[in-house]
Amino acid sequence: MARITASVYTSHVPAMGSAMDLDRTADPYWQPVFTGYGPSREWFKENTPDAVFLVYNDHATAFSLDLIPTFAIGTGSLYAPADEGWGPRPVPPVVGHPELAAHIAQSVIQDDFDLTIVNKMDVDHGLTVPLSLLCGQPPVEAFHWPCPVIPFAVNVVQYPAPSGRRCFMLGQAIRRAVESFDGDLNVQIWGTGGMSHQLQGPRAGLINRAWDNAFLDQLISDPDTLSRMPHVDYVREAGSEGIELVMWLIARGAMADVAGGAAPRVRQRFYHVPASNTAVGHLILEN
Ligand code: DHB
Ligand code: FE
Repeated sequence: MARITASVYTSHVPAMGSAMDLDRTADPYWQPVFTGYGPSREWFKENTPDAVFLVYNDHATAFSLDLIPTFAIGTGSLYAPADEGWGPRPVPPVVGHPELAAHIAQSVIQDDFDLTIVNKMDVDHGLTVPLSLLCGQPPVEAFHWPCPVIPFAVNVVQYPAPSGRRCFMLGQAIRRAVESFDGDLNVQIWGTGGMSHQLQGPRAGLINRAWDNAFLDQLISDPDTLSRMPHVDYVREAGSEGIELVMWLIARGAMADVAGGAAPRVRQRFYHVPASNTAVGHLILEN
């Protein structure tokens, strides 16, 4: 049986990717951010799973307004870092886990969640920045990511986006899928994006520390109630791009306590402003 050992939550601010790529993490602006991820990198080294199921959003990179899947699972064996306008990030390609991904697709679709199956796509900052934050970034020629990754893309860019409730229930189905895999694997599930941020319009630059921290509290202690929060609350309180936070409920729904098990252990919690236009939030919960 495969098992979900932990969930990881983190913002994916592209400027954090640039800070790592350009070796600026010790700059006064960035130093507090990367200090916050230091213990998480140590934790990840000691707790490298057999696969990461990485919930993220594509930012009109692999998909466009031509084609907008609500939930898309990567069943391919290799994903190239995308060129988002300045050339691809200097990070290695992402190795998939086709066998586990195909099993999860089979199980989750038969469990009534209609997924789009993707065998080929490039992955943008939504996926590669969280990986760099947790795995670090030695020189690219000597580096490969420490484990296979199953990309799972959620549409939070073009309305209608899925509800928090739907995401939370999908996480529960993903847990059932992982546990029915015939193979002895440790799997982590990551929920990425957020926290409060708005990138355009009169409220551009919006940050809401109190709301973000209340979200973190409730994500830990009462995700079921949190999952019932309507989209309009995310957008009013956390800005138009704060809606990315619904993805965190997929990872939280996959944790043991939601299925009647013990409460997770909070291994890391970190919050920092500023990082570009976004509040950085980060959690690690262990089963
Ligand atoms: C920023 C944040 C995002 O989530 C994103 O996708 C792009 C930019 C930012 O804060 O700059
Ligand atoms: Fe984003």
